[in-house]
Amino acid sequence: MPRLSASDFMALKATVMRKLLEHHEKEYHCHVQFVRDIGVELARTHHADEQLIEIACLLHDIGRDQELPGEEHPETGARIVRELLTDTALTADEVELIAQCVKHHGEQSPDASIEEKIVLTADAASKVLYHEAFMLMCKKQTYEEKLAWGNKYLEKGYTKCAFEDYKQRIYPRYKQLRAIYDAVAARV
Ligand SMILES: [Fe+2]
Ligand SMILES: [Fe+2]
Repeated sequence: MPRLSASDFMALKATVMRKLLEHHEKEYHCHVQFVRDIGVELARTHHADEQLIEIACLLHDIGRDQELPGEEHPETGARIVRELLTDTALTADEVELIAQCVKHHGEQSPDASIEEKIVLTADAASKVLYHEAFMLMCKKQTYEEKLAWGNKYLEKGYTKCAFEDYKQRIYPRYKQLRAIYDAVAARV
């Protein structure tokens, strides 16, 4: 049973989508929507709150290109999340849980909650399962740079998955992409 009513959740999602599309339309279409899809599926598997996971996944990269000096985008994102989600239907604890998921989406903390692991895994796995879509965001100029960029995120994405069974599930896709990159690199 979802905690928020359908109308409260719709209003919350409208707020989130407005903010997301304001600066991150490309990221939404090429990356964030896939992170959301994987996150919601993982939330079902791990009996986590699907609504909170969906909001956290939608907002996980909201800090990109909004960083203050000395900030990394996950910290920036957590700050924006706290501002954006205050005075919504969410409780203060729920807002903080989402902020923590956003803050730790790149590196797993030793005492990570199941929600943090889900968002981190969804972000990581999306770079493998939806690799071509992710590559549409690549700003590199030369094919050598694009090759290095793609390789880097393929490896990071596969390595960072926090759930071993999910990692095994995406392994065939990882292997297929790995083979393509290796074949190109071998002939350069
Ligand atoms: Fe990120
Ligand atoms: Fe991401």
